[in-house]
Amino acid sequence: MSTMAQPRVNQDIEISRVNDALGAEVVGLDLSVPLDDATFENLREALQTYHLLCFRDQRELSEEAQVAFTERWGELEVFPEADKTKTANTIYNVANVSADGEHLGPNDHRSVYQKVNARWHTDSSYRYIPSFASLMLGIEVLPDEAKGGETEFSNMLLAYDALSDEMKALIEPLHMVHYYEFGRRLFPELPPVSPFEREAVPPTCHPLVRIHPDRGGRRSLYFTTNAGNEVSGMSLEEGQKLHRKLASQASRPEFCYLHRWRPFDLVMWDNRVLLHRAKHYDMARYRRVFRRTTVAGEVPFIGPFSRTADSATSEG
Ligand code: SIN
Repeated sequence: MSTMAQPRVNQDIEISRVNDALGAEVVGLDLSVPLDDATFENLREALQTYHLLCFRDQRELSEEAQVAFTERWGELEVFPEADKTKTANTIYNVANVSADGEHLGPNDHRSVYQKVNARWHTDSSYRYIPSFASLMLGIEVLPDEAKGGETEFSNMLLAYDALSDEMKALIEPLHMVHYYEFGRRLFPELPPVSPFEREAVPPTCHPLVRIHPDRGGRRSLYFTTNAGNEVSGMSLEEGQKLHRKLASQASRPEFCYLHRWRPFDLVMWDNRVLLHRAKHYDMARYRRVFRRTTVAGEVPFIGPFSRTADSATSEG
């Protein structure tokens, strides 16, 4: 019987904040069974409030059930890269382990891809319509004594609010250039992108300031350090200098939460307001395997000057 055919189950859940900047832990929920609408609405509100939800001990969560839960949030993203996926092209295996279970060396290009994720990013920023949310299940995580391997998150609403007025005015009209191929500049040893990938995800631009219509027009920073470092409308040097400043803003500890993975944590995060990065670890020594599904965004977000910015309407 498919998971979709099972009755929806109402579950008593407890949601508690884990950090001042972002994040909550959800206890008492088994995501391998479909949730009733009221429980799901609680989760939707919690994601909006905390930006990241950690569901502990989801060891029963099959691939099919993870996809079904993800689909409740919206359409799944499809990955253009053959190497990222083992089964369906909607499942991204974030792993230094091959499809056959072989522990890959740190220089194997499938491991090197993981290093691109060690820089601040928001998923799929290189797409014209970037993703809304990601859900990642920890299948093999590092043992307690290991150093690194966590995922760090930073809250871009707070990072934006803390900027000076001058900086806010400077970045308001600017866009960052995002491109998938930037990973090859960081790691030239990676195989070149395929003609299909180049066609599927050409370079794109997004405003540095993202406006959130679902938060009364609140603003956040939106940029990455894994998909580019150029700012449209500035010289290369000026843009890269600004980009470095934004990266150091994102790294301020008061905006960040470091998630130390326990086996079978399912962590869901809102890519519209958070950046994240994987922390370095000894890839030769430890296996690290995650199954990620991603909820596609709904629309491109246009500049702060678009009609989403204010309720003001233009006349004539
Ligand atoms: C990702 O960016 O999707 C993965 C992050 C991680 O490996 O911790």
